[in-house]
Amino acid sequence: MRKSHTITISGAGSTRVPALVGTFVEFRDRFPVSKFIFYDIDNERTSKTEAYIRLALKTYYSDAEVIFTTDEDLAYSKTDFVFCQMRVGKSEMRSYDEKIPLKYGLVGQETCGAGGFSYGMRSLTAMIDMVKKVRSYSAETWILNYTNPAAIVAYGLQKVFPEDKRILNLCDQPYSLMRSFAKILKVDQKELSARYFGLNHFGWFTALTNRQGKDVFVELKEYLINHEFKPYNAEQRAKSWLDTYVRVNKYMQYIDEYIPTTYIQYYFFQEEIVAESNPNYTRVDESFDTREKEVWDLCKRAEGKTDFKDLVLLNDSVFGNLMVEVAESIAYDLNEEFIVLVQNNGLIDNFEEDAIVEVAGTIGKDGPKGYPYGPIKTFYKGLMENQYAYERLTVEACLEGSYVKALQALSLNRAVNGLENAKAVLDDFIEVSHDYWKLK
Ligand code: G6P
Ligand code: MN
Repeated sequence: MRKSHTITISGAGSTRVPALVGTFVEFRDRFPVSKFIFYDIDNERTSKTEAYIRLALKTYYSDAEVIFTTDEDLAYSKTDFVFCQMRVGKSEMRSYDEKIPLKYGLVGQETCGAGGFSYGMRSLTAMIDMVKKVRSYSAETWILNYTNPAAIVAYGLQKVFPEDKRILNLCDQPYSLMRSFAKILKVDQKELSARYFGLNHFGWFTALTNRQGKDVFVELKEYLINHEFKPYNAEQRAKSWLDTYVRVNKYMQYIDEYIPTTYIQYYFFQEEIVAESNPNYTRVDESFDTREKEVWDLCKRAEGKTDFKDLVLLNDSVFGNLMVEVAESIAYDLNEEFIVLVQNNGLIDNFEEDAIVEVAGTIGKDGPKGYPYGPIKTFYKGLMENQYAYERLTVEACLEGSYVKALQALSLNRAVNGLENAKAVLDDFIEVSHDYWKLK
């Protein structure tokens, strides 16, 4: 039997957490947990899912201790892994991140374009405090971070905690795309091995092989050029997500050497995306009417129940599986393959050393290790240099409280067009961000 762990779920009120719990149940032999600490500063939110989570764990994980708390010290003082998916400012602020840019005819997305800047400023500030708190107790605890925008959070944390090798920033998008590729190719996801480079939410698959080492990339690209790209779980996806997959097809009508992540489109098809957006009903509203409603309705049905009979155990989300598989790979030094976020340090040999790049690699007891990629071509290098400069200036604006750097950052972002737009969105963001961040 493998050694078991104490884990803390930080941002436990997230609607992704019930399915994460389902993954812990499924992985109970692979990654045994003796104590679950569910921590959130918003007790009201957590109370919507608490009964369901408690009942699921009582039913399927009866030997584990379960704690729900709003006490930061209790959450972080004695824990082996922090699984973090905090959303600073919750949906209310996500709504501003998406809607303010649209007012100026700019992409309204939470991690790309101007919205990602605003979200990044909030997340980084809170994540720095969190890491300090965790480290005030232990240097050993692993911090697995899913808080977005991962690119900005990862770069900022590296700047503030350069020696800390136990912070891992994670994104399920490449993982989710691999699952969709596997479905198209009719193979198991674990049989596929990718070559990939980029920044987070800004990357490309450049090769794919199956377990026998056979190249399946050409076959996949041909499929994507000739068929509608659908995520592996298309039936469960809301319309706006399906649209993003179709725009991968569209990108590939123009440039088909690599397969982009769905997030690249926000930098290439801005006009079309803005024209299709409803400035009064963005992704945050859609997710409220779909995932949030579904999860909360299900969880409500657990209230007052003593058994799980008429309930379903949510499970197999890409987010949950990725987080737990990564923890397992660290805890038992499995060196499983993932697409990882790591400091470049020459992996992409014609790119900035200190950038956080997204490449294929492995994860083991010392954290993630990227596979050397080699040089990238001018087109991608140009795009990434620009995006990296934007990310770096955003981090510097946040750490230094610099208005000028914030303006420079936004004006560099390809989804923000020109200084006037940059200033307009920045000033609007400042107005709604109150105590989350301040610039001078
Ligand atoms: C993908 C990304 C995540 C992001 C999520 C947003 O999974 O990799 O970084 O948080 O999508 O999903 P939502 O359903 O909240 O729009
Ligand atoms: Mn992501």
